[in-house]
Amino acid sequence: MSKKILITGGAGFIGSHIADEFIKKEYEVVIVDNLTTGQEKNINSKARFYNCDITSAELEQIFSAETPEIVIHLAAQVSVPNATKDPIGDAHINIIGTLNVLEYCKAYGVKKILAASSAAVYGEPQYLPVDEAHPTIPISNYGISKLTMEKYIENSGVDYIIFRFSNVFGERQTAHGEAGVVTIFENAMKNNLPVTIFGDGEQIRDFIYVKDIAKITCNLAVSDVKNETINVSTNTECTINELFKILADKYGYQQAAVHKPERNGDIKVSVLANSKLNSLAEVEYTDIRGAF
Ligand SMILES: NC(=O)c1ccc[n+]([C@@H]2O[C@H](COP(=O)([O-])OP(=O)(O)OC[C@H]3O[C@@H](n4cnc5c(N)ncnc54)[C@H](O)[C@@H]3O)[C@@H](O)[C@H]2O)c1
Repeated sequence: MSKKILITGGAGFIGSHIADEFIKKEYEVVIVDNLTTGQEKNINSKARFYNCDITSAELEQIFSAETPEIVIHLAAQVSVPNATKDPIGDAHINIIGTLNVLEYCKAYGVKKILAASSAAVYGEPQYLPVDEAHPTIPISNYGISKLTMEKYIENSGVDYIIFRFSNVFGERQTAHGEAGVVTIFENAMKNNLPVTIFGDGEQIRDFIYVKDIAKITCNLAVSDVKNETINVSTNTECTINELFKILADKYGYQQAAVHKPERNGDIKVSVLANSKLNSLAEVEYTDIRGAF
């Protein structure tokens, strides 16, 4: 019998693709999501879905009924600005919610937890590309809650893999999340509305395709790799101006971008090294330049 996988946040952008990938490989998939930012239409019909908040005591009943072998933990407060406005709300979901998940992983014998962290834990890069040994000095509340989540997982006694994702893009992304810039640009361009770029647009990002993340997660979940923290990125540079041009070409968008002042806390260059990931998993990367 194949392993049972429980995915928190499985109705969301990244989680729903991970669920699809496991189901394609004939694993049994259980999804826990409270649909705050996730959507019912994202949920694979072959998954068993529980509408449940990860911070609630009801989560225990799900672990007790399902006894999953592997947990993929993606449910989170995902907005950097929301974490600035409401740090308590952010910490409640990202820290207390994770502790709740960890308690039941321990109580119900989960073999391994894979959790989504972020490039935000590094803060301002001291060198590039940023590898896993880079100091972690987050400059946002979101980065702080994700780093705290990492520490609790490392200290839990449950075998784990922590993924530090760079900027993720792909189908089902909405504009609200950590790296919704692709979707924000696409939505505006499709409707021929103005597109805003904060600052000069020469900010550099490292975009990774969501279906590549789904494959990487699936492979590492069932591998022997454990107790590792791994950057998940392409280590490829793309400026926001370049992204604008790629999408403008795709949608035949003729307007120039509207430039507004740089946003506080925006990191100028964010590129994550991926040699550790490449040494642990077979990965084929989709380049954002060829993705559209
Ligand atoms: N998208 C990115 O570029 C990116 C980058 C780095 C890290 N991440 C991390 O990856 C994970 C998935 O992000 P995403 O981009 O798919 O965002 P998303 O908002 O689409 O997914 C998050 C999911 O968690 C659910 N959720 C939120 N709070 C919950 C709660 N209290 N109980 C149960 N479910 C809850 C939401 O309904 C949603 O389905 C998050 O942990 C995020 O921090 C994302």
